[in-house]
Amino acid sequence: MNRLLVFGATGHVGNAIAEEAAARGYDLTIVARSRDKAISLSGITSQYKIADVLIPASIQGITSGFDIVISAMGKSVSPFERSKPGFRTIDLEGNAMILEDALRQGVKKFIYISAFQAEHYPQLEYFRVHQKFSEQLMRSGIDYAIIRPPAVFSAFLDMITLARKGMLTTIGPGTHTTNPIYEGDLARVGIDSIGLSNVVIDAGGQQIYTRHELNEIVQKIVEPKKRIKHIPAGLIKSILPLVRVFDRNSFDKMSFFLEVMEEDVLAPRIGMMKFEDYISARAGK
Ligand SMILES: NC(=O)c1ccc[n+]([C@@H]2O[C@H](COP(=O)([O-])OP(=O)(O)OC[C@H]3O[C@@H](n4cnc5c(N)ncnc54)[C@H](OP(=O)(O)O)[C@@H]3O)[C@@H](O)[C@H]2O)c1
Repeated sequence: MNRLLVFGATGHVGNAIAEEAAARGYDLTIVARSRDKAISLSGITSQYKIADVLIPASIQGITSGFDIVISAMGKSVSPFERSKPGFRTIDLEGNAMILEDALRQGVKKFIYISAFQAEHYPQLEYFRVHQKFSEQLMRSGIDYAIIRPPAVFSAFLDMITLARKGMLTTIGPGTHTTNPIYEGDLARVGIDSIGLSNVVIDAGGQQIYTRHELNEIVQKIVEPKKRIKHIPAGLIKSILPLVRVFDRNSFDKMSFFLEVMEEDVLAPRIGMMKFEDYISARAGK
């Protein structure tokens, strides 16, 4: 059980998973949407396949010959990602297509990166599609592992750019807590799960922070002279119905951010890396 295919390897989580798998000696192939992107990962593996879940023909037979498929493939939650297809198309229909192929090709194990407490927010498209695909995977009969982080550190990289410009903003009081996990720590959990059967693993980091503390850490490291802005959550809520009419993807992302800002989102404390160290390294400080 050594031949491993990773979807989403050009993304933050998938890249960390690919690195971990290569370091542990798996016979690793990654999937990328273009040859250039695949080649950018040649330091990890030279074996790649080109596919895009928006092109169903590119998925046909892609999992043939592999023992394990890992999918960290999904639409980015970053507000700076502006592609047209929504979470349903990419995260649900796209992953369902990969799973169908894996079942047809006799793949032995499917590992999926979902989202912590996805079942808790059926009203939000982002969580709904992660949960729906997880349920589909659990019903499919294939041996599965579903890994559920609350947030990974890379999700906060946009904050470095905003902090440099003095545009970092705390929404509402920012007093609710969370424990994001370093994607490298999450990758270890993902690869460890190859040895486990039919599991759902929730995985957060060691440290618990309020949302405002996360902003303060980034601002202090990146540009301490600039100030964090504050915006009432009610103001964003008031414009959401209008956003929904004109831009469904932005609505889905904004509703997701608002919801998680207003609750404590705390997963089992598994990851070891500290957020402060990660941001310092990424900000070149
Ligand atoms: N980031 C978080 O805090 C967090 C928290 C909980 C759960 N998750 C989930 O974990 C998964 C990975 O997250 P991430 O932060 O690593 O996301 P990411 O950095 O945005 O990576 C997404 C990956 O999916 C690929 N992809 C997107 N559309 C595709 C398509 N049409 N066909 C083939 N590949 C496509 C991307 O390829 P390109 O490089 O070509 O765009 C990229 O490799 C997602 O399902 C996400 O919802 C993330």
